[in-house]
Amino acid sequence: MAANETHETHEYDVIVIGAGGAGLRAAIEASAAGVKTALICKSLLGKAHTVMAEGGIAAAMGNVWKEDNWQVHFRDTMRGGKMLNNWRMAQLHAMESPDRVLELEEWGALFDRTKDGLISQRDFGGHRYARLAHVGDRTGLELIRTLQQHAVHKGLDVHMECNVQRLLKDGDRVCGAVGYLRPSGKLVVFRAKAVILATGSVGKAWKFTSNSWESTGDGITLGLDAGAELIDMECIQFHPTGMVWPTSVRGILVTEGVRGDGGTLKNSEGARFMFNYIPEYFKGETADNEKEADAWYEDKTNRRTPDLLPRDEVARAINAEVKAGRGSPHGGVFLDICTRRSADYIRKRLPSMYHQFKELADVDITKEPMEVGPTCHYLNGGIRVDADTTATCVPGLFAAGEVAGGLHGANRLGGNSLSDLIVFGRRAGLHAAEYAKGLRGAAGVDAGQTQASIRELLSPFDRTGGENPYAIHSDLQECMQSLVGIIRTEGELRKALAEIAVFKQRLARVKVAGGRDFNPAWHLALDLYSMLSVSEAVTLGAISRKESRGGHTRDDYPMADDRLGKVNMVIRKRSGEFSVTEEPIPEMPPELKALLQEKR
Ligand code: FUM
Repeated sequence: MAANETHETHEYDVIVIGAGGAGLRAAIEASAAGVKTALICKSLLGKAHTVMAEGGIAAAMGNVWKEDNWQVHFRDTMRGGKMLNNWRMAQLHAMESPDRVLELEEWGALFDRTKDGLISQRDFGGHRYARLAHVGDRTGLELIRTLQQHAVHKGLDVHMECNVQRLLKDGDRVCGAVGYLRPSGKLVVFRAKAVILATGSVGKAWKFTSNSWESTGDGITLGLDAGAELIDMECIQFHPTGMVWPTSVRGILVTEGVRGDGGTLKNSEGARFMFNYIPEYFKGETADNEKEADAWYEDKTNRRTPDLLPRDEVARAINAEVKAGRGSPHGGVFLDICTRRSADYIRKRLPSMYHQFKELADVDITKEPMEVGPTCHYLNGGIRVDADTTATCVPGLFAAGEVAGGLHGANRLGGNSLSDLIVFGRRAGLHAAEYAKGLRGAAGVDAGQTQASIRELLSPFDRTGGENPYAIHSDLQECMQSLVGIIRTEGELRKALAEIAVFKQRLARVKVAGGRDFNPAWHLALDLYSMLSVSEAVTLGAISRKESRGGHTRDDYPMADDRLGKVNMVIRKRSGEFSVTEEPIPEMPPELKALLQEKR
C-alpha cells in the first residue's frame, strides 16, 4: 500500500448506509427535509433482504376486522416480544404503521384488495386479527419497488456496490465514513453531518438462513466500533419455515403467509403437532383441537389455530418434533396447504411459493405438502436507539430497521418488520436531517484517521499467512448453527466463544491474492470482521441471559425469569474489549400497561 492512498471524496449533510426498506424510506425523508442526502448500498439498488418479508406489512387498518386498532397491535407486539420490547417504539410503530401503508399506496404500491376494494389484510402468527397488508407473497418486493421509484424521483445520489468499512469521528461525533467500490476496489470517503445505519442484519453467520450474501452484520459493527451500544443480541429469530430440501436451497424462506392462508404443520405420523405446544400464555385464546382450529379458518370461532402461534414457539415445536424422530425425510416437518385450499387459491395468494417449490424442489404445492424447517431469519436485538428520533448514543449517528434493537423485544411478530422499516425509516430521515441542519459547518475529517481506516481496509493484501477466508466463513457458520442455534447451553456457548476467538486469529492471517478489481476473497475477508464481531456479541448476550425468552432458548435455564424480563443485555466495545451489562427497561406508563391486561 502507498504511504497515502488516493480516494474519491463526497460531501453530504446526511448519508444513509443500506438501501433496504428502512434506508430508502430514511433517504426519502431526509431529502424531502431539504438536506443533501446520499444512499449507499452494498448491492445494486433494489436488492435487499426486505424482499424476504414476503407475507405482508402489519398495520392495524381495520379493513378486514373493524375491531382492530393500534392498541391491539401494540398489545400483540409486546406479548410476541415477551415484554422485552422498548414499549415506546412498540407504541409509535402500532400508531403510525397504517399511515405509512397508505402513503405507500399513494406512492404507487399495488396491494391486493378486499371484496369492498380496501387493502386486503391476511392472518399471521401472534396477531389477534388479520392485519397484514399484502401483495400476494411478494410484499417486500413491492415495498422496495415503490420506495425505490419514489427515491429516484427525489433525485437522491445513490452509490451502489459500495462497502462502508469504518465510520469517521470528529471528537465524539460521527462525521463520515470510509469504504470502497466493490467492482473497482476504488476507495471512497464520505463526509457527512449525520449518518443513518440501515444495513439489516447478520444471517450469513449461520449455515441455514433466509438471508442473502449482504447480511454480514456491517452496520452493527460500524456502530459498535464507533461507540454505539447493542441490546439483546442473543434474541435471534429462527423463522419456523424455511426450505429444507434440496440441500443447495436449504434455508430459503417459506412465507408465514402459507399458514396464514390455511397451511397446517404435520409430522411424519400425519399429526397436527402444534396442539401439543400451546404455551400457558396463549392457552384459552388458541384452539386446542382440530375441529375448532378448522372452524377458525371459516371465521366461526375466535380461538386461533396453534399453527399461527408466534414464531419462537413454532420454531421450537418443529425442532422438538424432528429431535423426537417425527420429522420429514430431509429433517423438517410437513406444511400442507393443498388439503384445505384449491389450486387456484394457492396460485393466486402464494404465487412465489408455488414457483419456488416447483422450480427448486420439483414439488407442486397445490398437490403435495412442502418440507420445511427453521431458518435463521432475523435479529431481534441490535443497536440501542432513542424511540422517537432513532438517535444512538453517538452524536450524529442514527439507526433504523433490523440493525436497530428494541421494537421487537425477544421475538418479532411476522409482518412487523416491514412496518418497522417504514415507521422508523421515516423517523430516522426526519431527525437526522434536523440534526444536520442544526450543525453550522461540515465536521472536520481527520486525514490521519482516514488513512488508518484505509490501511486496515487494504491490510488483507499485505499480510503473510495462508488462511483462506472461505474456510473461516464455513467454520463460523458451522459453529453458530450448532452452538448458538435455537436451543443453547452454557457449555456450548462458551465453546462457541472460544472458537470465535480462534477465527479472529485466523482472520488476522488471511492473505488475499490478486488485485482490488472485483475481488470476492477480499470482500469476504472484510465482511468476516463484521460477522465475527456480531457473532461474539450474540454469544456473549446468550451467555449472560440465563433464562429462556422469545428467540433465546437455554436448555439449562428453560424458564423465563421475571427479573431478567425487566432488563436489556447491553453490549459495548471499548478499547477493543466487549462488555455486557444488565440495564433496566424503563417503566411503562399505566395507560399502556392497562392495554396489556385487556382481553380482546
Ligand atoms: O414469512 C414471511 O413472509 C416473513 C415476514 C417477516 O419476516 O416479516
